[in-house]
Amino acid sequence: MASPGWVFDQKTFLIFIILNLSLGSCLIATSLEDSTAQQKLDKVLKLPGQSFNVSFAHYAGYVTVNNNSGRALFYWFFEAADDPDSKPLLLWLNGGPGCSSIAYGLAEEIGPFHIRPDGKTLYLNPYSWNLAASILFIDSPVGVGFSYSNTSSDLLDNGDKRTAKDALKFLLKWLQRFPQYKDRDFYIAGESYAGHYVPQLSQAIVRYNRATKAKAINLKGYMVGNALTDDYHHHLGLFQYLWSAGLISDETYKLSDVLCDFESLVQSSDSCNQVIGIANEEMGHIDPYSIYTPPCSAIASQAKWLLKRRLMVGQLGEKYDPCTAKHSEVYFNLPEVQKSLHVLPEAAPSRWETCCDTVNINWKDSPRTVLDIYDELMHEGLRIWIFSGDTDGAIPITSTRYTIDALKLPTVSPWRAWYDDDGQVGGWTQGYEGLNFVSVRGAGHEVPLHRPKQALTLVKAFLAGTSMPAAAAATAAVGSQQLISDS
Ligand SMILES: *[C@@H]1O[C@H](CO)[C@@H](O)[C@H](O)[C@H]1NC(C)=O
Ligand SMILES: *[C@@H]1O[C@H](CO)[C@@H](O)[C@H](O)[C@H]1NC(C)=O
Ligand SMILES: *[C@@H]1O[C@H](CO)[C@@H](O)[C@H](O)[C@H]1NC(C)=O
Repeated sequence: MASPGWVFDQKTFLIFIILNLSLGSCLIATSLEDSTAQQKLDKVLKLPGQSFNVSFAHYAGYVTVNNNSGRALFYWFFEAADDPDSKPLLLWLNGGPGCSSIAYGLAEEIGPFHIRPDGKTLYLNPYSWNLAASILFIDSPVGVGFSYSNTSSDLLDNGDKRTAKDALKFLLKWLQRFPQYKDRDFYIAGESYAGHYVPQLSQAIVRYNRATKAKAINLKGYMVGNALTDDYHHHLGLFQYLWSAGLISDETYKLSDVLCDFESLVQSSDSCNQVIGIANEEMGHIDPYSIYTPPCSAIASQAKWLLKRRLMVGQLGEKYDPCTAKHSEVYFNLPEVQKSLHVLPEAAPSRWETCCDTVNINWKDSPRTVLDIYDELMHEGLRIWIFSGDTDGAIPITSTRYTIDALKLPTVSPWRAWYDDDGQVGGWTQGYEGLNFVSVRGAGHEVPLHRPKQALTLVKAFLAGTSMPAAAAATAAVGSQQLISDS
């Protein structure tokens, strides 16, 4: 999920906003054997609460990223549902900083296994991104999810720099354990505060490949959604969005313009924090990450009222469950679940949480912008996509559009609507030199949670390097559906 500053906790969300060639053949054989043995150890068999069989293999475990302090990152990896030998490899990261990619990315967004409200049983996500790629989730950095450090002070000095370094180390070692993926086309995707992690890790990989004159990691591109990229344009777009959606007063909007411009997101001034407090008050009890759907707490405390409201919200609210994070907190704390995932009892958190406050509060370094990294990486020929769910009040589409505009890129394909295969407008898209923008209509902060089908269309287009589907294809699809239903 999403939280820069908690890009995930309603109380504070606006404040932090608010994730060798000459080696002897016997040496190679030994290392292959080792890696195969470790793969076998990491293989996850049936999970508690899984009443169905799956066609794909999946693996979970740790990769040590620092021996001295004992830092290890936890991963969960799903092979593509079909043809895993040729499908690309995609790493997914959530933000926070401090939020678990397994809690959000896997269990409620793009992963194959989602958790039912009982917190005990699983169901298969029909729009899992492992229909398009083999997908890897890591809890990053240490202190998040099941990732840990044996040096407790490590949890108090996490920051962007070490997060990127450890993640690079993780990937190099993980590819030794899974050598069959070593030359595979590799992509990174993420949302929210991972708007920092994703370009920073991409930069670390590109620089590592350059320095070693080898392609240790075959990085082809990255994609971020509702991503924190540039603090200045974030604030500019944030208050404008809240005002134009009718959530805050004229006065607060004007005040934000005076007091919150040029603010760092992680450390904003007292005066700006005051404006943020007022804005929070004015917005009332809504879910800032998805402004038109009910918040989870409302579901719990006002179930009857919501039932009525759900009918009124109609399609939008029908199947949407705002409490998915609560279900994960039950499931991933079950000892038998932790055991199946090879969690070390001595390294497990006393209580597994979707987001770790200690990590978030003690975040050490967070540059005000990562646009300089975009400048660097666009010249490396990477495929770079930015998407945005347009009903997110935390890192809204206005912020994203101002941020892209700041790159001053020539347009190569003009603004247009894109269509999903049901013939509906899925959102809008514009191609720039070096970057592609896609919005997802009616999606909140976690696009694949709110619009799972459209999100799968998005990732398929991204991985294929094609533009989003246009109206003609959509019409044809509608036509063929009609044929089927007529027959
Ligand atoms: C899953 O596979 C096992 C072993 O092949 C089989 O016994 C079981 O009936 C299958 N379960 C389902 C739900 O298909
Ligand atoms: C860390 O320790 C492992 C196991 O003892 C060893 O294989 C590895 O090379 C060490 N890594 C570093 C960076 O020292
Ligand atoms: C951390 O300490 C535990 C308990 O001593 C040990 O089992 C584990 O291997 C250590 N982890 C790392 C990454 O060094």
